[in-house]
Parts: sequence; C-alpha cells; structure tokens
Amino acid sequence: MKLIDHLFLYFIVVAGIIFLLVVGYITFYLIKYNSKRRPQLPPQLEGSVSVEIFLTAMAIAVTSVFVYLTISTMGKVQDIPEHPEPFLQITGHQWWWEARYPKSGVVTANQIHIPIGKKVLLQLNSADVIHSWWVQDLAQKMDMIPGNTNYIWMYAAHEGEYLGTCSEFCGQGHARMRIRVTAQTPKDFANWERQQLLPAVSSHNPLSIKGKELFEQKTCTNCHSLNGMDYASDIGPNLTHFASRKRFLADMKDNNSENLKEWLRNPQEVKPGTRMPNYILSTNELNALVTYITTLK
Ligand code: CUA
Repeated sequence: MKLIDHLFLYFIVVAGIIFLLVVGYITFYLIKYNSKRRPQLPPQLEGSVSVEIFLTAMAIAVTSVFVYLTISTMGKVQDIPEHPEPFLQITGHQWWWEARYPKSGVVTANQIHIPIGKKVLLQLNSADVIHSWWVQDLAQKMDMIPGNTNYIWMYAAHEGEYLGTCSEFCGQGHARMRIRVTAQTPKDFANWERQQLLPAVSSHNPLSIKGKELFEQKTCTNCHSLNGMDYASDIGPNLTHFASRKRFLADMKDNNSENLKEWLRNPQEVKPGTRMPNYILSTNELNALVTYITTLK
C-alpha cells in the first residue's frame, strides 16, 4: 500500500503543479487583456511551431515518466510467484466472504484473521458474480471473477481491526458486503487457529439441545456447515465458531442474541435479497435456536 500511496502522491504533486501553471496563465492574461483597460483586440497570432513542439514534448515526457512509474509499481505490488501457495483462499458469495486457510484447514467467514509482520498471499475466487476485494489499509483492490483465480499480497504491520468492503456492484446486497480483518501477533493468530479447528461445542443446556435439534430439523444444515458433524455445505457461512465472531451478516450487525433473533425472524427485511429463507419460527423456536447458536464459540 505504501508503494501505491507514493505513486498517488507523485501524481497529485505533478498534476497540482500543472494545474497551478494553467490557472496562473489564464488569470494573468485575463487581467492583462481586461477589455475595460484594453478595449482594442491584441495582435492575433495563429499557430507557433516552437510552442507546439515544446508542449507536445512536455506532455510526452510527463506521460512517459508516469507510465514507467505505474508499470514498475504494478510489478512490485503484483509480484505473484509462478506456483502460488496461498495463505488464505477467499471466495466472494452474494453477499458474504468465505475464508479458508489451506495449511491448517480452518474455515471461517467475513471476519478474517491474519498474523502481523508477514506478507500473506490471498487467492481470490467468486462463487457467483463478480465481486471485488478491498481492504484499503492492507492491499490494493482486486476483482473476484467467476471461473478465474486472482492473487494479491496483504500485509499488516500493526495489530488491529481493518475494515474493507466489496467494491464491484454485485446485486441487491452489494452495500451490505463488508470485510473485517483482524491482524494479531503470530502467537495470538496461532491460538485463534487452534481454537477454530476444534469441533463445534455441545452444551447440556436443554434450550440449547432443543436449538440443535431445530438446526437439523429446519434444514439449516443444507447450507451451513459445523465441523465434526455429518453434513458439509458451503452455500452459507460455516457456523462452527460463529459466536467467536464480533459481527455477523458480512460485518453489518453486532453478533448478539437480539440481532440474531431479528435476523432469523425475517432475513429478507434485514438483508433484502439474501438467500437465507424465512422459516417463520415461533418465539420458543427462535429462543432455542439463538441459544444454541450463541454457544458456538
Ligand atoms: Cu460483492 Cu459487491
């Protein structure tokens, strides 16, 4: 991102100088040939070979310098090895992000964890239409194109939460397709990865057991995976450790019981166009289901 920032700065400075020169000359001649002070027309000169050569040469020189700087920056930023071994595989879905860590086998969604101080290679794919991955503080923007694989490097120097968003119009939920990257120390990251690999917890709370039954009866398992269970699907986000995420719905809502109930009561109202169906759950069913989901730490 620093390389891109520098390139942008050069563009702004040079464009600023040219802008000031043009505005300066216009202002100067507007004053000099003000019709109140000089009612007569000035001598009318048409064409000047030397001025035209000078301006054309200047334009070619400035453009050439920037073409060179842009291409060399692209080469440095987009320095992808011939046989890429991605650290993270991100798949854009309408309208959420699936994240897989091929080395460890961790699968999560929307809230993506990376270690600091390490350049990580991302593989970008789409499950449906064109999306565009953009976490502006960590990497350049890159499209996710169905049937095509793109790669980018991502780097975080400091711990923290970095926000991003889908940057290619991808349908009704495009504006509700946010990204949250949690950058943490390598030790914290390893702990997080270890925790994510554990199978889904089971609770002895009767309401939670009822919720788990509902989760299976209501066919939630046709779209959502829970590690360690018999079913696996990637139509919707993997929910094994759903409760360990701060936000849900592609970073649109705080992850708490109230927001979860609102979502499950009427998904179309919360996120119009979502593929999540409305199961028309009773209050008791909602309570049981939400109790179960919030135990999935
Ligand atoms: Cu995905 Cu816009």
